[in-house]
Amino acid sequence: MAGDGVPAGLDDVRAVDADVPAAVGRVLDHVLAERVARARAMDARFAGELAGRVSRFTRSGGKRTRSQLLWWTLRACAGTDEVPVAAGLRIGAALELLQTCALVHDDVMDGSALRRGRPALHAQLRAEYAGAASPERVARFAEAGGLLAGDLALAWSDDMVAGTPLAPVTAGVVRRLWSDTRTEMVAGQYLDVQGQLTGAYTLSRALRTACLKSGRYSVERPLALGAALAGADDATTRALCAAGIRMGMAFQLRDDLDDVFGAPRRTGKPRGGDIREGKPTCLVALARRRAAAMDDHRALAVLDRSLGDPRLTDADLDRVREVLTGTGAREAVESRISRLVGQGLYRLDGVLPEHGAGGRLRELLTRTAGGAAGDGDGAPRPGPDPAGSLAASGARETGR
Ligand code: IPE
Ligand code: IPE
Ligand code: MG
Ligand code: MG
Ligand code: MG
Repeated sequence: MAGDGVPAGLDDVRAVDADVPAAVGRVLDHVLAERVARARAMDARFAGELAGRVSRFTRSGGKRTRSQLLWWTLRACAGTDEVPVAAGLRIGAALELLQTCALVHDDVMDGSALRRGRPALHAQLRAEYAGAASPERVARFAEAGGLLAGDLALAWSDDMVAGTPLAPVTAGVVRRLWSDTRTEMVAGQYLDVQGQLTGAYTLSRALRTACLKSGRYSVERPLALGAALAGADDATTRALCAAGIRMGMAFQLRDDLDDVFGAPRRTGKPRGGDIREGKPTCLVALARRRAAAMDDHRALAVLDRSLGDPRLTDADLDRVREVLTGTGAREAVESRISRLVGQGLYRLDGVLPEHGAGGRLRELLTRTAGGAAGDGDGAPRPGPDPAGSLAASGARETGR
């Protein structure tokens, strides 16, 4: 052990810089091996079927976006000799465990069977117990298992934060940020499923939900946590959060586009789930608004009958895609993403160094906020529309 609960060899800043996901992965391997061993001492079945699954899910997948964002913020804000390496890696690993909780619960709530290109955790349990009882009872059991697995990941992520030695002032800031992060994720997910039920398709509500359910915990909060660990000054922290909220919003808008237009082999998720579930995304809200403004009754009828229809066929989904593209909603979302990325980067001007860690953070933010997508099926993505009609900026939605 290199001290502070990270494995040997991980106390060197440059070694972590060389491969941040690998360094975070080693911390997760180390911590989760110990957690699963303790679970096994409690009960072998629990360890084998649930704790082990949480560990495997966390260790074996994901882009490690949140932990990388935290690391490069920390590096950009602290002098090389002052980087609290162990704390950065541990809180980064805790963010990845929080992500496990979010994804496992999300797949239960959204009824998604595919995650990271593999069966979702609850779908694994359903397959393992197929035939043990009626399909309904097995499905209920599997969802209960998914909820418990997510709870376990959340408990372990909290333990990691609580067990990270920090100076008292930093500890207070980190605790507050962590608490807000968890609460706003729940708020966003609640708005998402409630909007789905009630058909609350306004644009402002969709943007608020995107920000709460994902933009903050995925981007803004990792930046804020990195800044807190680095002891960054108020102006720097404010600029990072202002950039993070915009980039985070762009990240979720890209995810919404990917749900409908992305290739599952790239996203690792099913296509069209948001439409089948009737999810109140920004993309859908815009399409409805534009169709109504153009008196396009055919487009509105397609949306009305498709949103929330779990039996939607591929041909039906094609028609929804036509409406999303034909109304200009897809292009308007692309345009908004570009604008948010530009605004986010602008906030960092003069605040972070252009090169070195500052440059790495900018690159990572740009990629996270929408630069890494595309259809994956060879179709060109529409370019940004400079005359895009989305007047409201992400800043206005978030009050910053
Ligand atoms: C997916 O997040 C969930 C959303 C918030 C949209 P990521 O795309 O970061 O998922 P992983 O961790 O890389 O699988
Ligand atoms: C994103 O919600 C937020 C979380 C996963 C917490 P989505 O439902 O859009 O996420 P994906 O698309 O399933 O990853
Ligand atoms: Mg969801
Ligand atoms: Mg989902
Ligand atoms: Mg999604």
